[in-house]
Amino acid sequence: MHDWSPSSWKTKPAAQQPVYEHESDVARVVQEISKLPPLVTSWEVHALKTQLAEAARGQRFLMQGGDCAESFDRCDSATIANKLKILLQMSLVLTYGSQRQVIRVGRFAGQYAKPRSANFETRDDVTLPSYRGDLINRPEFTEAARVPDPELMLRGYERASLTLNFIRALVSRGFVDPHRLEYWDLDWVGDSPMADEYRRLARTVGESLRFMENIVGVHPGELPWIEFFTSHEGLHLPYEQAQTRQVPHREGWYNLSTHFPWIGMRTADPDGAHVEYFRGIRNPIAVKVGPVVTPAMLRRLIDILLPEDDPGRLTLIHRFGSACIGRYLPPLIEAAQASGKTILWCCDPMHGNTETTVDGIKTRHFENILSELDQAFDIHERCGNRLGGIHIELTGEDVTECIGGARGLSVTDLNRAYETQLDPRLNYEQALEIALFTARKMSKRG
Ligand code: PEP
Ligand code: CO
Repeated sequence: MHDWSPSSWKTKPAAQQPVYEHESDVARVVQEISKLPPLVTSWEVHALKTQLAEAARGQRFLMQGGDCAESFDRCDSATIANKLKILLQMSLVLTYGSQRQVIRVGRFAGQYAKPRSANFETRDDVTLPSYRGDLINRPEFTEAARVPDPELMLRGYERASLTLNFIRALVSRGFVDPHRLEYWDLDWVGDSPMADEYRRLARTVGESLRFMENIVGVHPGELPWIEFFTSHEGLHLPYEQAQTRQVPHREGWYNLSTHFPWIGMRTADPDGAHVEYFRGIRNPIAVKVGPVVTPAMLRRLIDILLPEDDPGRLTLIHRFGSACIGRYLPPLIEAAQASGKTILWCCDPMHGNTETTVDGIKTRHFENILSELDQAFDIHERCGNRLGGIHIELTGEDVTECIGGARGLSVTDLNRAYETQLDPRLNYEQALEIALFTARKMSKRG
């Protein structure tokens, strides 16, 4: 690729980028990060790509989940471990229901930059730049907090590295041992309406595991460890560029800040800077597609990001909303099928279903999330296609940000534990309910 470099995105219009006071400070920070060790390796990146190719062929299922935005303040042991626990529980349920290996991808260790619909926010008579994620500025509504600060990129790199270090340590030893499923329980699973169904399933899995080990004669501890991959929206291009590397014995460039970066819906312009940056990296990549993406635009995106068939390279994450998916998805599936290339399809049932209550609180109705997911499976099947994954915003905490679910959270519950700075996330119980629903749906299909 002769006409591409890690900074060639600068020749194109870049949406959703902050305006810094001194570009020289940005350049200095980018230079500093580019000298620090990478967070992931090209070996891991290729392993994930191979698995995503298998998911596109129906041999695996992709489960991607985590916070809308990670926060520097919540880079702590309990938050990370709880997120891991809920993702482990969901993947156990999905593996059981789909009878396929599940690829576990967290929205973590770098999910610090957010697209915003407005550049400024006004409260009373004061107007300040919008909060764009901890990588760029801070959420407090003060002038000092909202000034974009290039040093935060370094803080983000460090936080990502601390997060990943802890995750790698947890998943490389006993914590993820499928013989110790009780380690994955979250504190309040006891009185959860989901607990019985989950525990029954976990018991069955435990018994099957022991049965299999007896049959084939392996001993506990000999089974391969569970893998986790990282992903984030590759929104803030200076940060992504800083970690874009060449590695020995392989051609091309890798974004080694994450295994699996994605292009958000607001930055998916085929002529824009994000698509320019993403076309040149060797990672598996994803693009969020929503109602603004026409079949013609999708064809161009596929031409640019997947010039030759390269299974595992491109995932399309669709997010339309439960009321619109039936109208928008089929023409996009048709356009992708016409390309003749292998693409993995993943459903994000969260971002098309965001609404605001009369009190101005951002929320999502659980039944709409479930309905979009349900429709997604059926639409893909009707179109002779396959839904190969889900993309969920969740937390391992007992928050009250989305309405509904087994415990029947209502609008009045939202105030009790509403913590997100940005999009409303499924709490632990609601996330498990999504996994159980998906597992049931997939097991019916066989
Ligand atoms: C997100 O994933 O948090 C997000 C902003 O999604 P989208 O680009 O689909 O709106
Ligand atoms: Co979000």
